[in-house]
Amino acid sequence: MKIAVIGANGQLGKDICEKIVIANNELIELNHDRIETSNIECVSYVLKEVKPDVVINTAAMHNVEKCENDPERSFKVNGIGARNLSNICNDLNSTLIHISTDYVFDGSKNKPYIEIDKPLPLNVYGNTKLSGEYFIESIAKKYFILRVSGIYGKNPCRAKGTNFVDLMLKLAKERDEIRVVDNEILTPTFTEDIADQIVKILNMDAEYGLYHVTAEGSCSWFEFAREIFSVSKTNIVLNRAAPGEFAIKVNRPKYSVLENKFLNDQNINIMPLWKDGLTRYLNKT
Ligand SMILES: NC(=O)c1ccc[n+]([C@@H]2O[C@H](COP(=O)([O-])OP(=O)(O)OC[C@H]3O[C@@H](n4cnc5c(N)ncnc54)[C@H](OP(=O)(O)O)[C@@H]3O)[C@@H](O)[C@H]2O)c1
Repeated sequence: MKIAVIGANGQLGKDICEKIVIANNELIELNHDRIETSNIECVSYVLKEVKPDVVINTAAMHNVEKCENDPERSFKVNGIGARNLSNICNDLNSTLIHISTDYVFDGSKNKPYIEIDKPLPLNVYGNTKLSGEYFIESIAKKYFILRVSGIYGKNPCRAKGTNFVDLMLKLAKERDEIRVVDNEILTPTFTEDIADQIVKILNMDAEYGLYHVTAEGSCSWFEFAREIFSVSKTNIVLNRAAPGEFAIKVNRPKYSVLENKFLNDQNINIMPLWKDGLTRYLNKT
């Protein structure tokens, strides 16, 4: 298969590229200097030149505070970008794989969300990512939308500069005590595991549609930090932050755990426990 990866030099994109090559596919890396997803002429020109069988879109505006301050640009990238890719993939009869987010939910369910649960985003980022999902579902003929959560990988996140694991390890070198919130529950997910799952989805001819693709299990940010320090054998005083200790600039879901129900239904769920992913990550870095 000829597979084009948009955002190929990103945190998730790089791991996807690696796994695609290992699985003997032809890889076309499309970075931001070559393609601008919010520009239909550009998307059309580049993809029609490449003619991929599959387009994987990891590109997004996903710095939550920047999205809140610039909703128009956020909608252009996360919404219109997905619309443009859907239309051009249809023209080429290509399959579109699009990365979405747990932030489409408001967190009030307090137990794992499945794919048919009603989204209700709390912020501009979540709203515009959801608009991207809706464009794809209403336009694209062959698509997979994959909602991921709390991702970290070997390659730096281009939008945020670092990931939570590396940030904790850095702070542990600089401080005597670290304080982390205990009231937001998520599933940290290693990007390599998402990349393996994407290859599996392609190889198994999975049904088109929307999928949750996160590691198994869940934790609070505090529990995540505790596990990071335990596995890396880092000596540091770790405490729970007091409620309201950190200023909240943008509303975020307090609970955003996703259940990989549709992957399980098709017997193709290979996502490991979040602690397994973390241990492998720490052994590699
Ligand atoms: N990070 C998380 O915890 C998290 C959680 C849930 C979902 N997600 C989703 O996961 C996906 C990948 O995240 P990531 O951490 O791998 O991101 P990343 O490291 O910031 O990479 C994003 C890539 O997309 C490119 N890009 C951005 N806007 C673009 C545009 N308009 N046109 C073309 N390329 C563009 C960036 O290029 P430049 O840097 O050169 O602009 C970069 O190569 C995103 O869809 C995000 O919404 C992330």
